This record gives sequence, C-alpha cells and structure tokens, in this order.
Amino acid sequence: MSINVENKIVLVTGANRGIGKSIVETFLNKGSAKVYAAVRNTDSAKELVEKYGDKVVPIEVDMGKQETITAAAATATDVDIVINNAGVLFNASPLTEDAYQTLLQEVDINVGGLIRIAQAFAPVLKQNGGGALVQLNSVASMKNFSDFATYSASKAASYSITQGLREKLEEQGTAVVSVHPGPIATDMAHNAGLGDIAEPASVVADSIIEALEQGEFHAFPDSMAKQIWQPYESFAKNIVEVNLMEG
Ligand SMILES: NC(=O)c1ccc[n+]([C@@H]2O[C@H](COP(=O)([O-])OP(=O)(O)OC[C@H]3O[C@@H](n4cnc5c(N)ncnc54)[C@H](OP(=O)(O)O)[C@@H]3O)[C@@H](O)[C@H]2O)c1
Repeated sequence: MSINVENKIVLVTGANRGIGKSIVETFLNKGSAKVYAAVRNTDSAKELVEKYGDKVVPIEVDMGKQETITAAAATATDVDIVINNAGVLFNASPLTEDAYQTLLQEVDINVGGLIRIAQAFAPVLKQNGGGALVQLNSVASMKNFSDFATYSASKAASYSITQGLREKLEEQGTAVVSVHPGPIATDMAHNAGLGDIAEPASVVADSIIEALEQGEFHAFPDSMAKQIWQPYESFAKNIVEVNLMEG
C-alpha cells in the first residue's frame, strides 16, 4: 500500500521538540494539509504555530494518561496518519539499583503509550479509509545497549507490539510502519551521551515519508540503522513480515 503525504492530515506525538518537531516540519514542507501537534503542554508547540499558522493544531496528549489520548481521538477525527513518536529514555543498565523500576516507567510510556494511541486511533483511521500508524522504535529494538538497557528492552517490546498492530490493522486497510533510528541529534541522544555520533532528525522524517510511499513496514534511516538493517533485512523479510501461521 503506497501512501503519499500530500494533503494528508497527520497527528504527531511528542511534536514539540527533537524528532517529532522535525517530522511536523518535514510533513508540512511535503504538502501535508494539517498536523495535530500532540504534546503534554500545548504551549510547547507555540513556535510551530507561529511558523506554520493554522496548519499546526496543538492538542494535549500525555502518553501516560489514557484520558488525554481518548479526548485527542475524539477531537482529531479527521486524521489520516498517526505518528507515535513520544518516548522516554532513562539511563539504566541492568545493574543500576532501580533498574526494574526504571524499566516499568519506560514501558509505561514507550509501550503502554503505543497501545493507548493505537486503541484510541484505530477506529478513527478506519473511519477515514485506513491511513497509517507510524511507530518510532529504535536500533535498540534489535540490540541491547547496556548503558540504557531498560530503554532497549522497552523498545524491543514496542517493536513486538508494532508487529502485532501491523497484522491486526491490515484487516482495516491501515498501513503500519516501524521506524528504527540510531543516534539522532536530539535531547535524548545528548542525555544518553551519544551527541558526538548523532545524525540530524530530518533523516528520520525523510525515511518515514519514503516508507509510506513505498509501502514498507520497516524504516532504518541513518548510518547505524543501515548497518543493522544490512544483516537484519533477510530475517525481517522472511520471518517478521510473513504470517507464519498461514503455513
Ligand atoms: N534521538 C535518538 O537518538 C533516537 C534514536 C532512536 C529512537 N528514538 C525515538 O524517537 C522518539 C523521539 O525521540 P527524541 O530523540 O526526539 O526524544 P526527545 O528529544 O527526548 O523528545 C521526546 C519527546 O517525547 C515527548 N514525551 C516524553 N514523555 C511524554 C509523555 N509522557 N507524554 C507526551 N509526550 C512525551 C517529549 O515531550 P516534553 O517536551 O513534554 O518532554 C518530547 O516531545 C522516541 O520514541 C525515541 O525513543 C530516538
């Protein structure tokens, strides 16, 4: 299924900074009609509104609060493409004292948030003809990085849920894209000590547009991501992307 982003109405979680902000700008520059900037604090999308006027509509979404997501889905009833980008990384190795508690917090936002968004917006996307759900996973979905091991585990879990969503949402004509960036120059990468090797956020936004256009489930945007995709592609195409239950 090929999806062109021109004239589409898009919702981006975590739209106020980092990769989310770059996605908003790239989609508008490629001709999307309107973007709901789904953010915890609607004031944080002010800069985008000043730049793009009524093409950016701030909407309150806290990934940990079901009621805000339910309300957003009741407001953004015209959305064609939902991009679940918001996420958290706390630096915890498996040996950090509060590692398990940290894992639960990351799972709540990175995995629970995805499930909440998918459940709230699947009926909206269905009603609008199918559209797409895009999930920001990571290279850490494939490989555990020990200094942020609990984050990696949460991103492995969100990737697994994304695969389940791909199969379930196919029935209603909704395309699902799983995006797996390596280090990208944002606050998150800086706080994880990856600032020096990070690439610009625009490479992620561009790869999402390409995956939507080409009907691809997986997107591996930057240099490290491509290094992982090269050996992973065969497994992805022959195992992850096929229905093994069909025989
Ligand atoms: N940067 C990388 O190297 C990298 C690599 C692979 C994958 N990713 C993934 O890409 C996505 C974006 O990352 P980023 O680097 O842009 O991160 P970032 O710079 O830390 O920005 C995180 C975004 O998520 C929002 N957010 C966090 N918790 C939230 C909550 N409870 N409710 C609503 N919004 C919340 C933040 O909003 P506030 O401003 O309100 O905090 C912010 O907009 C994440 O899912 C991340 O895991 C990033």
